[in-house]
Amino acid sequence: MDLDNILQKAFSQAFGGEDFSWVRVVPATDARFGDYQCNDALKYAKKLGMNPRQAASSVAEALKGEAAFEKVEVAGPGFLNITVGEKWLEGRLAEMDGDANMAVAQSGAGRKVVIDYSSPNAAKQMHIGHIRSTVIGNALDRIFRALGYEVVADNHLGDWGTQFGILIKGYRECLTDEERENLTVAALEKCYVLSAAKAKDEDGVWKDACRAELVKLQQGDAENLALWKRFIEISIGEFERMYAKLGVKFDTYRGESYYNPMMPGVVERLVATGLAKESEGALVVDLSDEKLGVAIVRKSDGGYNYTTSDLACVESRVGEYSPERIIYVTDDRQQLHFRQFFSIAAKMGYSGVKLVHVPFGLMSFKGKAISTREGNLIRLDDLLSEAKRRALAIVEARDGTDGSDPASRERLAEQIGYGAVKYADLSHDPATAIDFDWDKALALEGNSGPYLQYAYARVCSLMEKAGASAGGGSGYSVATPAEKRLALHLLEFPGAVSRAAEAYKPSVLADYLFQLAQLYSSFYQNSPILKSESPVRERRLALCALFARVLGRGLELLGIEAPRHI
Ligand code: ARG
Repeated sequence: MDLDNILQKAFSQAFGGEDFSWVRVVPATDARFGDYQCNDALKYAKKLGMNPRQAASSVAEALKGEAAFEKVEVAGPGFLNITVGEKWLEGRLAEMDGDANMAVAQSGAGRKVVIDYSSPNAAKQMHIGHIRSTVIGNALDRIFRALGYEVVADNHLGDWGTQFGILIKGYRECLTDEERENLTVAALEKCYVLSAAKAKDEDGVWKDACRAELVKLQQGDAENLALWKRFIEISIGEFERMYAKLGVKFDTYRGESYYNPMMPGVVERLVATGLAKESEGALVVDLSDEKLGVAIVRKSDGGYNYTTSDLACVESRVGEYSPERIIYVTDDRQQLHFRQFFSIAAKMGYSGVKLVHVPFGLMSFKGKAISTREGNLIRLDDLLSEAKRRALAIVEARDGTDGSDPASRERLAEQIGYGAVKYADLSHDPATAIDFDWDKALALEGNSGPYLQYAYARVCSLMEKAGASAGGGSGYSVATPAEKRLALHLLEFPGAVSRAAEAYKPSVLADYLFQLAQLYSSFYQNSPILKSESPVRERRLALCALFARVLGRGLELLGIEAPRHI
């Protein structure tokens, strides 16, 4: 039974059968007073007007004889300080070690979520504005799967809209035969820019031609449809090249176009239920009661928009998957859009599915905006190449280049470089803006990806030297305070994974891993391992092995590779 449960049972024993599932045990803020504390007796007493110290004492009384605890003390105004017993601690370590899920509660078993992330616009190269949605979304994807959820990772590509008229016209007129034959996303981007510029011509001829191409596409003209399909395929191919570098995989690529045929039906239902009303030729849903303004669901020219498409998308996902939740990871400038369509979806009766927007702040580069001098956004590909280049310089500066094999050095540079970029993002609360700093991201000390990767590689090499196998096969035992602190923190792993999911913040897990690596490092400095005699040596090696597993698994859940040798 876990500590929360033990306390909950004691609460109902002390105060009667009420629901105490909210009662929690948290790690002690000061190790001198115990291993854990529980402040909920105080909270409960205040709510009921009881004497808080007395309430805490009744809980302490109910905990007498509880085998897990060595000591329970009432402190201050009514806190409970808890010291756990060695046997309990050792049992939990063994349990974690023996469990394929490393004691992460499978709270998501039988539950389904859709996570909508990355979602770039087609026919454009991915730029660094896409990194956060991709990296945060993928970490959430991994974390939810670790909790046993069935996850549908969906890439909601921006693959429909007026830009395709401009693109088709540009493709026909602004590219060379050679470019058309070996079409790339870069060429598509180029012809878009040229065509969009010409669409500004005063005579309006080019603009009309673009519109004509768009109309043909919308009406299902075979040639334009084939071109559009080719643009999308080439775009996805290019995106997948980035995703392969980042270790990201999607279950589906359902772009906006997928929902096209469903949009008229959505609007019909909105009108039939009186939710959408005509206003200046357009159809709008008035959300001013909720201070969300009005949302247009059909423009005056008859076209649908982003809101309509997202409503159709909810209908489609609910119909196909009946998910418990749909999680959208986008930048925080889209907050109004999500609030609006969440509200409309609820009014349409989609209240059984929980719609969650995970907004993130922008990333700047040491105070500079994320674009080049010419005003173009920095390409994600270039950012990743730069990360690799810098990481390679670090690897070579450390090891030299003599003798070591260039291909494995390159691979290592990718693991470190991409890991550094990801961790620089994931270690921040998604809601905050990030000022990206190469030196900080790649630092071998401090809260960085490379620091954690090095900690992992170091413990792996220690175990190799010791000839130890992973896992405390012969059981665990914990004797010194440094061992106990490390052991207690290892046991917090499942909680960190659950809290990261509950808050939709991979940063909770990143924080946990950083603290763990720091604790390990002080344990390592204070506790000789290879130089110790049996059984101290085995006892400490077992903790090292569990540390390696937890850190390795934690990094995996953040989508960060953990090479065993650096
Ligand atoms: N394509 C959009 C963009 O680049 C993001 C889409 C997010 N997902 C959604 N269902 N609206 O901003």
